[in-house]
Order: sequence, then structure tokens, then C-alpha cells
Amino acid sequence: MMRIWIILMTLLLVSALTAREVTNFNDEWRFARYGAMPDGSELAEPQGLGCPDFEDGHWRVLDLPHDWGIEGPFRPELENRTGKLPWAGIGWYRKAFDIPDCDSGKKVFIDFDGSMSNTTVWLNGHEVGGWPYGYTSFRLDLTPFVMPGQTNHIAVRLDNKPESSRWYPGGGIYRNVRLVKTSPVHVDHWGIFVTTPEVSADLATVQIETEIVGADSATKVRHEIVETGTSGVGANCTILMEAPKLWSIDSPDLYTLKTTVHQDGKLVDTVETTFGIRSIRYTKEGFFLNGKKVRMNGVCQHHDLGPLGAAINTRALERQIEILQEMGCNAIRTAHNPPAPELLDLCDRMGILVQVEAFDCWKTGKISNDYSRYFPEWHEKDLLAMVRRDRNHPCVVMWSTGNEVREQIQPGGHEISSRLTEIIKAGDATRPVTAGCSKPETGFNGFQKTVDVFGYNYKPHLYGEFRMENPDTPLYGSETASTVSSRGEYFFPVSDEKHMGQGGHFQVSSFDLTAPPWATNPDTEFAAQDKHDWVIGEFVWTGFDYIGEPTPYNRDTTNLLNFSDPEERERMEEELKKIGGNIPPRSSYFGIVDLCGFRKDRFYMYQAKWLPELPMAHILPHWNWPERIGKVTPVHIYTSGDEAELFLNGKSLGRQLKGEYEYRLRWDDVVYEPGELKVIVHKDGKPWAEDVKRTTGEAAKLDLSVDRAVIASDGRDLSFVTVQVSDQDGLLVPRSHNKVVFTLEGPGEVVAVGNGDPTSHEPFQAMERKAFNGLALVIIRSREGECGLITLTAESEGIEGSSITINTKPIASD
Ligand code: GAL
Repeated sequence: MMRIWIILMTLLLVSALTAREVTNFNDEWRFARYGAMPDGSELAEPQGLGCPDFEDGHWRVLDLPHDWGIEGPFRPELENRTGKLPWAGIGWYRKAFDIPDCDSGKKVFIDFDGSMSNTTVWLNGHEVGGWPYGYTSFRLDLTPFVMPGQTNHIAVRLDNKPESSRWYPGGGIYRNVRLVKTSPVHVDHWGIFVTTPEVSADLATVQIETEIVGADSATKVRHEIVETGTSGVGANCTILMEAPKLWSIDSPDLYTLKTTVHQDGKLVDTVETTFGIRSIRYTKEGFFLNGKKVRMNGVCQHHDLGPLGAAINTRALERQIEILQEMGCNAIRTAHNPPAPELLDLCDRMGILVQVEAFDCWKTGKISNDYSRYFPEWHEKDLLAMVRRDRNHPCVVMWSTGNEVREQIQPGGHEISSRLTEIIKAGDATRPVTAGCSKPETGFNGFQKTVDVFGYNYKPHLYGEFRMENPDTPLYGSETASTVSSRGEYFFPVSDEKHMGQGGHFQVSSFDLTAPPWATNPDTEFAAQDKHDWVIGEFVWTGFDYIGEPTPYNRDTTNLLNFSDPEERERMEEELKKIGGNIPPRSSYFGIVDLCGFRKDRFYMYQAKWLPELPMAHILPHWNWPERIGKVTPVHIYTSGDEAELFLNGKSLGRQLKGEYEYRLRWDDVVYEPGELKVIVHKDGKPWAEDVKRTTGEAAKLDLSVDRAVIASDGRDLSFVTVQVSDQDGLLVPRSHNKVVFTLEGPGEVVAVGNGDPTSHEPFQAMERKAFNGLALVIIRSREGECGLITLTAESEGIEGSSITINTKPIASD
């Protein structure tokens, strides 16, 4: 009997030790804020919040990922550049969870994909550790403090310092968290590195390096490529693959490597790694993917997801990429920090090249509480975490050590840059290191030699000179354009000066000619890249609008609290009254696409350039100008064709031909009359595309449309509903701002609303929204495990409302 008992127990123990167990640890946390509160008050942080017996029953219950900043409210006195949202302050998350007895002897870890910021973790009252940088993924070892067979208490403290970001950072555990249990002998965190040093259509060498914790001579490691069954043995080994399917932008084929670890003949760990087979090469002629030259048509993206804030959501990210790809975008720069891992999974799957960037500053800060405070102690750990986490993604083609760091022109700066390059190379020598540089001298003063590939921010005029001085150094535009515009806003007279705001209304004209002093319109960058076709490509600032940094009103002086002088303050108060009591804006104008994912005019300019084979034409502005009858109202056309004829109410206004280095067609003397504006475009002498803009009638009804009518009932999947204010014929009424009220029935919820207006201070979490130039957005999320029909109804005073249904059912989403 005793023997059977012992055998049973041993079997139990062995089975418990065999497998790695990874569980989602997002659900049912208790949450409370201290310090700077959302309403502007202060709440003292009590002692003992990390202790298991602290009574947190009155705290709010929520699921991660969570961004406390996006909950608002917008407060006029908060900084424009971080979105006027209350993200600064202290946040605590607590959770009780059971660890079964059979987990004795296992290693238990918690993995944070990102937590904003200054994270400290306690388990059962013991401080476990933490991580300051809010964008780095990190693992903490809970094993020493875990109590198997009992309820365990975890507490997480975050502390967002004011003046710590130049854009909206969000606040909270805004990315996914997992609990990982392994046997004592296991594959180390990010301990597998797959490279493909030799790649051809016939054969690829897949090289694998594995770091095993606790390995000895009785440890055996085996790797198998799941799709082909080819395998190799040993922690470090090479597998040859015949006729590999190469990963590329057009055909992003992926493979799965299954790694198994046996100890004394027993299976103790299994890990799956997604990888791709592809070669990358940077030369003075450009960038080559699998031997083929590819121009990087890229955008910079901050991490927020518009009205959803910083809380990661895979579908929201996927939608962003879909919209960018529709424009011909094939590359993303993760400005200016490591992204959520989901972004890279999506880019692997969807065929997007990625430059992963580490920092916005090094030792010398840009603002008082930024990363410079942590740089000396943490830069190596942060860089290695970035590289080790992301080095198996075929989509990642460059590492950037930083953006416009002050050290570009400081004594000792080159040494720091070289050292950072070295740290990255120690983690991954297969990709080049770069940095985004704003100072003209950096291309000539030796800084350019501290990186493999050089990135200039806003220096199209220096490409030629750079090449003369650095004949062999690959170069690209790490930030380009920085054109600003508000969707659907147009101001007259149209000026080619890149002057900024036009006074009072905090909007920016959408003729795509306006840019800050350091920046240009898209046309100027296109011309420079076409003249120097060896330039690798560009990353436009930015693909999507983001929360914060509303240049030209980023440091707007109409912010009343900027004035300590009472007289000045009074004067400004009067001024604000005159302009309608507006307070300055809270999100950017840089996006090619607005904060809600609605395309601005510029979208079509990039599409015309980046997808030259796609027949398309786009007219701007809209044609609803009752106050401009008889006045000159210029018309611009973005098209992939080369010649166009414009007609106003059937009458030709003449033909225009695109000249060399021209990227838009212009009719500058059109005299406005209501009716129909039509363009007929030719390419190589043949009909190519058309577009029409019509003067619309009054707003008469709401039209709703969804990006997807069927979503997964997993509590994460989203449907994005576009609300359009239409006239009787269904045409979008361009200057309409009707307030729309929503009701929802069925197994889903409205998680956010928006309209793409950078000046709006209406909350994102609401059941109503004013349309901005004819459009608003409602984001609906499914409920976990609940299927059926969700009905959204939109109503607005004086016009006809509308409803739409979304089906939620059990399908795989992410
Ligand atoms: C750049 C900077 C970006 C953003 C941009 C706006 O200089 O790197 O982060 O601030 O300007 O044009």
C-alpha cells in the first residue's frame, strides 16, 4: 500500500513539474488612486498597502489592461502636451489568488508587458522588486515568497511623476500580465534566439541558441520546426530548411519552433517561438529584404490607441495597421519607446517592417522627471530587455537607441552612443542599430559613425551633403514631414507659407501645407527622397494622431494657468471669452489619420505616392461654402495618375499635369459656386480615376457603419462604429457638429467614443458625442462568454436616428 502511495505521489509530482504553465493574470484586481487625484485634489497614500491584511474591499474591481488616465476628466489646467488628462499620480492594484499545493517546488514568475510607471511589487507582504521604465516588459521571480496551498496576496504600486513625458503616457498596468510556472530546470526568460544567417529560395539555415536555467549534463534540449517536422538537438543547434517560405511584406510567412527540455529523461519544459525566415541588408543603395530593394514607406506611431487610451487592445492595433496598409504604409517606428508585444505579433503576421526604439532621452533629460533620472542605472537592463524580447520577430529590422537625444552634440555623447550600440549588439548582432537625429551636425561630426544606419529627423535638404561626406552610410528619414492638419477644416486664403495656427479656433487648415518651423509638407520630403533614391525611406511624423503634443498649440499661451501675472491672466481671460471660451487642445494634429482612425486628406497624398499602381483620386476641400460664393476657393487633387481635368458644374477648369517632383495638382483660382466638383484623371494618357465632391443639403439623418459586424465574445474584441451625419441623399455633411446620443442593448458595452477633434474636451468614456465635421466614432466591446446581437442606436435632435447590430459569438480574435 505504502509503495503504491509513494509511486502515486511521485507520479503526481513529476506531472506537476513537466509543463510550463502560463496563465492570464489580468482579471479581477482591486484598484485605488492616491496622490494627485483625477479631480485635481490630493489624497494621502496610507501606509501598509502592500500588506496582505490591508482591507481593500472598498476599492474598485477591474480587469487589466487598464489606463487610469483615459478615464479623465480633461482638466484645462493640465499640460496640453500630455493631453490634459490626469495620468500623473500614484496607483495601487491588489489581488488575492490561490497557489495550489502541487505547485511546491515550481518556479513562479509574474510577467508584466508594461506598467506605467515606477512599478514596485509585493507578494504576501514582501517586496519582490520592480521596474521604473513604463514601456519595458519585465519578469519578477515570486518563488521565494509564494505560499503553496494558500491564498496569496499581490500588491503593485505605480507612481507617475508629473513632467515625465512629452506626450500622453497613460497610467496603470496598461499591458497584459501573466503568471508563469515552470520546473526548476527551464528555458530562461526570452532565452531562445532564432536567427537565419543564410537564406535563399532553396535553403535556409535556422540557427538556435537556448539559455536553460539549472541545466546540467542530464539536461537534453530538442527543437522542432512544427510546420515541417525538421528538428535539431542541443541547446545550440542549426536546422537546415529546404525550400523555405520566406517572410516578406507581401507574403509574411511564419514558422513555429517547438523547444522541449528533458531532465533525467523527463519532459520538464516546452516553449514555442514564432519566427520568420528572411534576410535583411542595408547598403549605401538602400534596404534589401530577401535580396530585393524595398523603400520604407513608414510612419512613426506613439503607443496610445486614441479614445481607448494606452490600454493595449489587439484589435484596436490591428485596425490601425489595416488603415495604414490601405495607404501603402509598410513600416512603423515605435516612437520613442518599446511597443506592446502585440504590435510586433501583428506586424509579423501582417507584413510590416518595424524599427523598435528604446528612448526619448539618455543622460541629459528633456523635461525634469523623464527617463534621464533612470538612465545611469537602468539603460543596459532596458536595452537588453527590449532586444531579448523582440529579437525573434522577423518584422523587426532595426533597433533605435534614441530620439533626438541631447547628447547628439554634447561632449561625451558619441561615447554613450557607441556604448548603447554595443549593448544592443550583445543581445542581437543581426540587425543594425540606429538613432533619430535632429541636429544637422550629427551627420558630419562623427555621431553618424556610432550607429550602423543613420536617421535624420526633418533634414531632406541635407541628404545630398550627407552622402558626399558619408559615401557608404545607409541613410533614412527617421522623422519626416510633421505636417499638421485638422480633419475637414479649411482656411482661406490658402497660403504656401508653413504658417501655423490661424487664430482663435485652435484648428489647423487641411490643405497640408502647414508645418512647424523645423518641419515640411509631405511634398518636400517626397522630392528629396526621389532625388536621392538611395535613401532607405521615411517614417512620417505621424501615422495616427495621438493624445498630447497639440503643436502648434503645444505650449499654448492661452492656457490661463500659464500666467502668474494677474493682469496678463485677466487679459487672456478676455481673449478666451472672445474666441468662445475654448481651452487649448489636447491631442495632436500631426496624424495622417485622426485620433479615431478617420482619414484626413493627407492620407490620399501618401496613398498616391506609396501605391502608384492603385487608381485613385481625391479632391479637397469639401464643397459646402455658402459664405464663399464668388470667392476664390482653391482646389487640390491627390492622385496616383499624372494628369487631371477639373470640372465645376460640368464646366472644365482646365487640365493640369504633374511635373517632376510634384505630388499634387492645384487649381488655385477656382471661384466658388455650389454644385458638383469633379476630377477626371489620366495616367500615361489613359483614363485612370475620378472623384466627385458635391455641395450637400442640410443634415437630415445619421448613418451608421461598422468595421466588423461579427466579433468574438471574448470580452476583448471590438467593433468600431462610424457615425456619419448625412443629408437626405446620404452624403456626409462636412461642417456638421450635431450632438449624437447612444443607447446599447445586448451583450456588449460602449468602451469609448470620439470624433477626431483635437480641441474637444468631452470625455472619451460616455454615451454621447458631438460629430466633428460630420463624423463620430463609437467603440463597442463584447462581453466574455456572452453571445448574441448587440444593437447600437444613435439619435440626434432634429434629424433621423439609426441603429446597427453586431453579432458576438465564440470565434478566435487574438
Ligand atoms: C520631433 C520629436 C517628436 C515630436 C515631433 C513633432 O522633434 O522627435 O517626438 O515632438 O518633433 O514635430
